[in-house]
Amino acid sequence: MNVFSKPVFAITATTQQGLEPLLAAELKALGATHITQHNRAVSYQGNWEILYRSNLWLRTALRVMVPIARFKVTGERDLYEELRRINWETYLKVDQTLAVDSIVKSDFFNHSQYVALKTKDAIVDEFRDKYGKRPSVDITWPDVRINIHIFKDDCTVSLDSSGESLHRRGYRADANLAPLNEVTAAALIQLSGWDGKGIFLDPMCGSGTILIEAAMFAKNMAPGLLKKRYGFETWNHFDAALWQTLKDEAYKSIQETDTKFIGSDKVFKVTEIARNNVMLAGLDEDIRISNKQFEEQKPPAEGGIVIMNPPYGERLPVAEINAFYKSIGDKLKKDFQGYKVWILSSNKEAMKHIGLATYKKYTVWNGPLECKFHAYDIYAGSKKGGGKYDEDNK
Ligand SMILES: C[S@@+](CC[C@H](N)C(=O)[O-])C[C@H]1O[C@@H](n2cnc3c(N)ncnc32)[C@H](O)[C@@H]1O
Repeated sequence: MNVFSKPVFAITATTQQGLEPLLAAELKALGATHITQHNRAVSYQGNWEILYRSNLWLRTALRVMVPIARFKVTGERDLYEELRRINWETYLKVDQTLAVDSIVKSDFFNHSQYVALKTKDAIVDEFRDKYGKRPSVDITWPDVRINIHIFKDDCTVSLDSSGESLHRRGYRADANLAPLNEVTAAALIQLSGWDGKGIFLDPMCGSGTILIEAAMFAKNMAPGLLKKRYGFETWNHFDAALWQTLKDEAYKSIQETDTKFIGSDKVFKVTEIARNNVMLAGLDEDIRISNKQFEEQKPPAEGGIVIMNPPYGERLPVAEINAFYKSIGDKLKKDFQGYKVWILSSNKEAMKHIGLATYKKYTVWNGPLECKFHAYDIYAGSKKGGGKYDEDNK
C-alpha cells in the first residue's frame, strides 16, 4: 500500500513533554483535522500542503512524520517479516540513501539500536533480492529518514519529513553554556498569552533564544523559513512547486511591527553571541541587545512583558542562589511596575525567594529538567506583587 495514494493521509508531529496541547492548537490553526494528543506527539490528518506547512509553521513541533505501516510485533522475526511486506520501492529508490531512527519501549526488544539495524537490514534485503543492489546508509543527511517506534507490541514505521529536528531553526551559530531549546522558548511565549505588542524584555537573554522566538511570533515569521533543507525535499513524491509557493507565501506574510524587543546579559561574550544569532535570524532591526547587569536595568516606563530564564544555580551554595532570586524580586518590585513578568527556573526553592505572588503557574521541561514557569503582575503599591493566584497546570 502507498499511503500517498490518498489525497489526505495520517501525520504525526512529535514534541516535548507537556507541550502537546500547544501543538494541537497550532495544528488546528493550520487547518489539520482529526487532531489527537498523545504522549509527546499529536496525530492528525492532512494533505501535502498541511505536511509542508507543518514543517514550515509549527513552533512547538520537533519532527513531522508520516506513518506508512502499523503492525504487532513480539520478536525479531515478526519485525523482519512485517518490514519486508512494506512496498519500499514506493518510498525509496535503490540509488538513494537511507537512515533509520528507532524509539523502543517494549519487553520484546532490549535495544533500540538493534531494532534500527534490523529495520535497515530488512529494507536493504528487499532491494538486493529485487535488483542485486542496495541503497546505502547516510546517517547525517539521508534522502529518506525512516523512524521505527515500538511501544509494547505496537510497531509504527514512519517517514520523517523533517529530516532533522525542527528546533534547529537555522539562526543559532553559537550558544552559551545553557541555551534554551527553541521549541521550549516558543512554548513560553505561547503559554504567556502575549499578544505580540508593546515592549518585550529579556534581561538575562543569554544567546537570545526567547527574544528571537518572540520576534518571529510577533512578526508572523514562519519558524522554518531559515532552515536550509527538509527531509521531504528528497522524497520521491516531492512537489517542488507547492513547496516554493508555501515558502513565497510565508515570506510575504512577515509583518512589520512596532514592538520593541530589548535584551541584555551581564556577560559581554554572551551578548556578542546573541547579536550574531539575531543577525542570522534577520531580526537586527527589531531586537536590541546590550551588555548590562539586571540590577542596572531601567526598563521603558510604559510597561510591557518580561520573559526571563535566570541561572538555576545548580553549582552555587543554596544561600547564594536564594539571595540572587530575592534580589531579582526586589528589583522587579522597584523598577518594573506596569510589567507582566514570567520567570522560568528549575530551582523551585530559589523561586520562593522572589517574594512576589504568582498569578499563573505552568510546569515546563527544559531538556531533562522539570521547571516552573511563573507569572507575576508588578504594579505600583503592591507589596507582594499582585494579581490573583492561579493553580498550577499540573
Ligand atoms: C540560563 S542562561 C539564559 C539562556 C537563554 N535563555 C538562552 O536561550 O541562551 C542565564 C543567563 O543569565 C545571565 N545572567 C546571570 N546573572 C545575571 C545578572 N545579574 N544580570 C544579567 N544577566 C545575568 C547569564 O550570563 C546567562 O547568560
